[in-house]
Amino acid sequence: MIGLGLSIVILAAGQGTRMRSDLPKVLQPLAGRPMLSHVVDCSRKLKPSDICVVYGHGGDTVPAALDGQELRWAMQAEQMGTGHAVMQAMPEIPDGNCVLILFGDVPLTLPETLARLIEVTGDADMAILTVDMDDPTGYGRIVRSDGSVVRIVEQKDASSTEQAITEINTGVMLCPAGALKKWLDRLGNDNAQGEYYLTDVIAMAVTDGVDVHGVKATNQEEMMGINDKKQLAEAERALQARLVGDLMTAGVGFADPARVDIRGSLRCGKDVFIDVNAVFEGDVDLGDGVVIESNNLIRDSRLGAGTVVHPNCHIERSTTGANCELGPFARLRPGVELANNVKVGNFVEIKNSNVADGSKVNHLTYIGDTDIGTKVNVGAGTITCNYDGANKHRTRIGDGAFIGSGVNLIAPVEVGSGATIGAGSTITKPVPDDELALERSKQTIVKGWKRPVKKGS
Ligand code: UD1
Ligand code: CA
Repeated sequence: MIGLGLSIVILAAGQGTRMRSDLPKVLQPLAGRPMLSHVVDCSRKLKPSDICVVYGHGGDTVPAALDGQELRWAMQAEQMGTGHAVMQAMPEIPDGNCVLILFGDVPLTLPETLARLIEVTGDADMAILTVDMDDPTGYGRIVRSDGSVVRIVEQKDASSTEQAITEINTGVMLCPAGALKKWLDRLGNDNAQGEYYLTDVIAMAVTDGVDVHGVKATNQEEMMGINDKKQLAEAERALQARLVGDLMTAGVGFADPARVDIRGSLRCGKDVFIDVNAVFEGDVDLGDGVVIESNNLIRDSRLGAGTVVHPNCHIERSTTGANCELGPFARLRPGVELANNVKVGNFVEIKNSNVADGSKVNHLTYIGDTDIGTKVNVGAGTITCNYDGANKHRTRIGDGAFIGSGVNLIAPVEVGSGATIGAGSTITKPVPDDELALERSKQTIVKGWKRPVKKGS
């Protein structure tokens, strides 16, 4: 067990050529967040004295993507290999500390696995985390002699016998800082890629008589290195399975655990049920008994207990109280607050509005910048005309009001409590409490009118 101060170094300077993307590899999204931020989160759980991220390719976009995080950043201006990358972080690390090196492109590692490595390593020892891969192609191979690790050979430098080795280097390495500095200074780049390989320090440690522990992890997925879009997609599925698995353990029901995506954090109460093709982004909170039916996108929102979201809704930065019913085909844009027992039906769009208890907006309606009281019924095809071409204005609808179908409410405008608006009206003036407002031209019958007929028929 390591007793020294722990410094973590995360390598994130590489371009990731195999991604074929303008976005630096470590910023490629995994469960809605940059790959690198998963490694940083895992690192923090080990409570190190400091975390240093080595960045380079992509320049300041990498630190900018993790803005607000307490991290030390070391620049590797030219990417000359993983050993060269670690060198950039070392000057600030005291010789008496222990260094844990992690790769920004190995994002699924769990803190428990790293803790186990720290557990078995003595202060003067070195340790690497390895795993047996069904397909070891592309990874560095662990060469052992009489069971002990003697060196690591990269895929491109390996002989055919070495390529047959299935135990691979995960990239995770733990060793005393003072000794590491010494070995890094001696690295050369005489290899297939002309790079300063971090992996070469293993053979140096062995030569110096240092105990090198090759600790084998059991889970291949956790140790996946992500170099291309195919591996990125595999990692995404593995991470989703993990997130959904944790939710199922906590009692959340899923129609199909493979057909849901959590891109952020999803908190669920008791007896929540989630049907297929639900996508959750950002911070989403589902109260007890919430049911999410198929094909829904819910982003940064909170749904109260007992709320049901029917298929095909889009909900963003909104909250509902208890027992609301949304959709099918409803859209809540940012700033919607629904109280309890509110119904929002098909083809209804609501934005920046409050809807009080028991109100219903059931069909084909746009509600924007509006405060709706309790037990209001908004008829089909109602539009709050909130925009005059230059400014937005609010609409207020009092408790118990009844808005007929096809009504235009020209904001700013106020409809009193208990008022009724006749279907088809365009309302521009305040409507007093309990009164009926009608704005329609008188119906006429044009006697003897004939429909036009097609020429020549
Ligand atoms: C590396 C290891 C290999 C291991 C595999 C595990 C070396 C030489 N090889 O190979 O043994 O099996 O990871 O996934 O260490 N990076 C820099 N600066 C550089 C080069 C790379 O910061 O100059 C960073 C990259 O951003 C990446 C990590 O180091 O996060 C690994 O680099 P990569 O080029 O992907 O190495 P692999 O070929 O995958
Ligand atoms: Ca890699």
